[in-house]
Amino acid sequence: MSVVDYKEHVREYHARNLDKLAHIGGLGFIKLDLLRQHSAGDAPILSAGCGTGTLEMAVAREAGHVHGCDLTIEALRRYRESAAAAKLSRLTQVNGDLARLPYRSDRFALLYSFSTLYYIREIDSVLTEFHRVLGRGGTVVLEFANSLSINAVHSRLRYACPHFFLSPWRMDRALARAGFSVVARRHFYLFPTFLSRGPLKSLLSMTIGGRSLDERLSSLPVVRNLACKILVVATKTPPTVAPTQ
Ligand SMILES: C[S@@+](CC[C@H](N)C(=O)[O-])C[C@H]1O[C@@H](n2cnc3c(N)ncnc32)[C@H](O)[C@@H]1O
Repeated sequence: MSVVDYKEHVREYHARNLDKLAHIGGLGFIKLDLLRQHSAGDAPILSAGCGTGTLEMAVAREAGHVHGCDLTIEALRRYRESAAAAKLSRLTQVNGDLARLPYRSDRFALLYSFSTLYYIREIDSVLTEFHRVLGRGGTVVLEFANSLSINAVHSRLRYACPHFFLSPWRMDRALARAGFSVVARRHFYLFPTFLSRGPLKSLLSMTIGGRSLDERLSSLPVVRNLACKILVVATKTPPTVAPTQ
C-alpha cells in the first residue's frame, strides 16, 4: 500500500470509529497530568492528531490556546461541534497531515501527540516537522507503541488498519535524528490489553506511591523494553553552532 493509500485508509478507519476516540480513561489522566506539568502559562500548544478533541477540550480549560491538526475531517467536525457546545474558545482545528504541518516554524511551546504516531509510516518526516514548529526550548510529549510488546503482535492480527510500532531503540534513534533530547520516559501495558480485564485490570490499576502497579511493573529494568506504550518527554535540542574560526 502506498503512503497516500495508507493515509486514506487511516482517514476512513477513523471516520468510521469516531465514538472510540471520544473518551479519557486510563492513560488519559496521566497524559493530562504530563501536559499540565509541561505547559507554560498561556503559551500555544499543538495537538498532533487531535481526533475528536476530547483531551484538547480538557487541556484548553487549564492551559493556553490548543491548536489541533488531524487528517480526518469527520473527527474535526465532531470536535468543532463539541467545543461550540461546551462554549470553549481557546481551541483551533485544521485539517492537515503531520508530515507537512500547516504552521510556521518555532510556533509552539508544547507539542503532544497521543495514540497517533503508530499510524505514521514516515516517522522521520513527522518528527522533523514537530521539531520545526516547536519554539526554542520547547517540549514534546509523545506516545509511542512498542513493536516488541505482545500487544504489537495482537494488533497485527486483529486490526484492519495496520500499525507502525517501533522498538524502543528505533524510537530513540528517530528522536535523536530529528533533534530531540529525551528527558523522561514512562512505560505502560506490559501485560497485553486483551488479558488485562476484570480482576487483573483492577489489580494493575491499583496505585502505589502515586503510580499504578501496571506502570511500576512495566518500568522494571530490561522488562520495560517489552512494555507496549511509552510516553516520552523530550526537548528541542538547540542547533549546533559551528565554532568561530
Ligand atoms: C486513535 S486517534 C487519536 C486521537 C486523539 N489524539 C486521542 O488520543 O484520542 C488517531 C488520530 O490520528 C490521526 N492521524 C493519523 N495519521 C495522521 C497524519 N498523517 N496526519 C494527521 N493526522 C493523522 C487520525 O485521523 C486520528 O484522528
